[in-house]
Parts: sequence; structure tokens; C-alpha cells
Amino acid sequence: MAHLTVAGFEIHDTYLTSDAQRALLDALREVVRAAPLVDPVTPSGKKMSVRMTAAGQYGWITDRQGYRYAPQHPQGTPWPAIPESVLDIWRDLTGLARIPDCCLINYYGEGARMGLHQDKDEASYDWPVVSISLGDDGLFRMGGPQRGGKTQSIWLKSGDVVVMGGAARLAYHGVDRIRFGSSTLMPKGGRINLTLRVAT
Ligand code: SIN
Ligand code: FE2
Repeated sequence: MAHLTVAGFEIHDTYLTSDAQRALLDALREVVRAAPLVDPVTPSGKKMSVRMTAAGQYGWITDRQGYRYAPQHPQGTPWPAIPESVLDIWRDLTGLARIPDCCLINYYGEGARMGLHQDKDEASYDWPVVSISLGDDGLFRMGGPQRGGKTQSIWLKSGDVVVMGGAARLAYHGVDRIRFGSSTLMPKGGRINLTLRVAT
């Protein structure tokens, strides 16, 4: 398992074995059964191309009311617990005693992308964000703390994990595109990204 740092982003190449990826996917299927993926809209009413749900005490949601952490799924139920196997990844890579209270789950179908943004709805930026990729390859763009700065891109593959802490915690990042069908993990294709955050 190689580990390299690009613009402060700590990239753990193939952190998860194929068995671990399959086990994680099974755990996520349970989560999505209780908390179905939704088609979110931005505060201005634009439909996002990713589908979204969450696990943990809080989920990050977006709708006409704005971006925020919410204690319930839009359907009115508490979010399911974050699978222990997911928390183990956080513990191993961050070494922190504090555990995340939000695991955002983004599903990228064919043509889905995520514009450059900062993760900044959390109460404190002292905690890292850990991002886990499953399924199809995604072209991940990384910049600095200012919009419009220089960026670098890498293809994230199934099983790669990125730690965004320190200088990269408030760095701009996004996914330009995915290579739909590039992975055999999910029979119908697509990419899943989990981001673990300490929201409160
Ligand atoms: C995100 O920043 O919320 C998603 C990043 C990714 O999909 O790799
Ligand atoms: Fe993000």
C-alpha cells in the first residue's frame, strides 16, 4: 500500500483489498436500505448529479433551505449507524480517539460529477476529512484554499482512501468525471465515495 501526498492531500493507494471493498459495499447496502439515496438540489434549486445519503448522528444535506448537517434523513428517520468497518479506516489512518459523527455517501452514476468546493459546514476544521472510494475510477481535482488557484488531478480507484487534514482541510476539491464501468465491484457500475467528518 503506497502513500503519497499531493498538495497536502494524503493519498493511500489501494488501502482496501478487494475483499474489504466487497465487505464495505455489503455494509453500505444495509445503510442505503434504511436511508435511501436522494437526488439533492443546491440552495439555488439546481439538481446535483450525484445521489446522496448518510450514516451517523448527522447527515450532510442540501435543499432550498441551504447546506447543513441534519439529524434526520429527509424522509424523517434517524440516519443508520456508521458501519464499524468504516470507523476502523478512520481510526487506522488518523489515530484519533474522536470518531466522526457523519459519513456522507455520494453515488456517482454515469455522467455524475462534483464541482470544486471546500468542506466547510463543520463546527471545527481541526479534524480531518477521510474520503473512501469504491467502484469506478474518479478524476479527483485538488487545489488550495482559494478558488481559482492551481490544481492537480489524480484518478482515484476503488479502495483508495484520501485524508484531507492540515493544509488540505480547507482546500478546494472536486470530481471532474468518472470512468463509468471501469470497475467490476458494482454490477451496474458507478462510483461510491464516503466522506467521514466530525460535524459538531
Ligand atoms: C466530496 O468532496 O464530497 C466527494 C469527493 C469524492 O467524491 O471523491
Ligand atoms: Fe468535499
